[in-house]
Amino acid sequence: MKTGSMLYEGKAKKMYATDDPAVLLVDYKNSLTAFNAQKKAEMEGKGRLNNLISSRLFEYLNKKGIPTHFIERIDETRQLVKKVNIIPVEVVTRNITTGTLCRRLGVEEGMILPSPLVEYYLKSDELGDPLILEDHAILFNWSTREELDKIREITLKVNQLLKEYFEKLDVILVDFKLEFGKDPEGNLLLSDEISPDTCRFWDRSSGEKLDKDRFRKDLGNVLGAYQEIWSRITSKGE
Ligand code: TMP
Ligand code: ASP
Repeated sequence: MKTGSMLYEGKAKKMYATDDPAVLLVDYKNSLTAFNAQKKAEMEGKGRLNNLISSRLFEYLNKKGIPTHFIERIDETRQLVKKVNIIPVEVVTRNITTGTLCRRLGVEEGMILPSPLVEYYLKSDELGDPLILEDHAILFNWSTREELDKIREITLKVNQLLKEYFEKLDVILVDFKLEFGKDPEGNLLLSDEISPDTCRFWDRSSGEKLDKDRFRKDLGNVLGAYQEIWSRITSKGE
């Protein structure tokens, strides 16, 4: 597969064309950003770990019948994905209260929710990804009622599958963000990445944070936490 021109550079990844118009190459960067890129750093090895972790999780979800854009990992920092049009709605699922949920609504930190909470955010760097309602997405044509119903259904399945996966690694899946896209035939595919950049992972026994919160909150040893997730996946995961 030949790498063509760069089509897009995001905060954490670069996307390239390939000789197949239906396939894109994703190159994971070492950049770390938080608070809508107001805080930035470079971390050697982060792109590799996120590519390894996200590839493995997408392989697992593909195997469990979740429709995703993921094709294959081609080396340490790069993977091939199906080209999709990204729906500009970020889908956050929460199992335990923390982060912006607590700041926004004043609810206590660390509460186990009786059922998962699914929230929608508009994917917009200019606006800092504001929280939106389904009705906003429908009325402004960012998505349709039918797509959002399907997105919610897939998201809840992914939550269940990932919760089970991480339980076996003694990791609690606190919350995570998903993105969806549509292929040229109109199929809805889980897209983007699933990594310590986009999930909150807590060690089951110590409660230690094993994700990007270490960077957001200046807790130190960011790369060590990402490495710990990858080590547990390779030793105990599928
Ligand atoms: P939040 O509590 O900051 O809203 O984050 C909820 C989850 O979504 C958390 O796992 C981190 C993830 N997330 C992203 O992947 N990208 C983002 O831009 C934001 C704000 C959160
Ligand atoms: N991904 C967002 C940013 O870079 C926010 C975050 O994850 O905290 O800026």
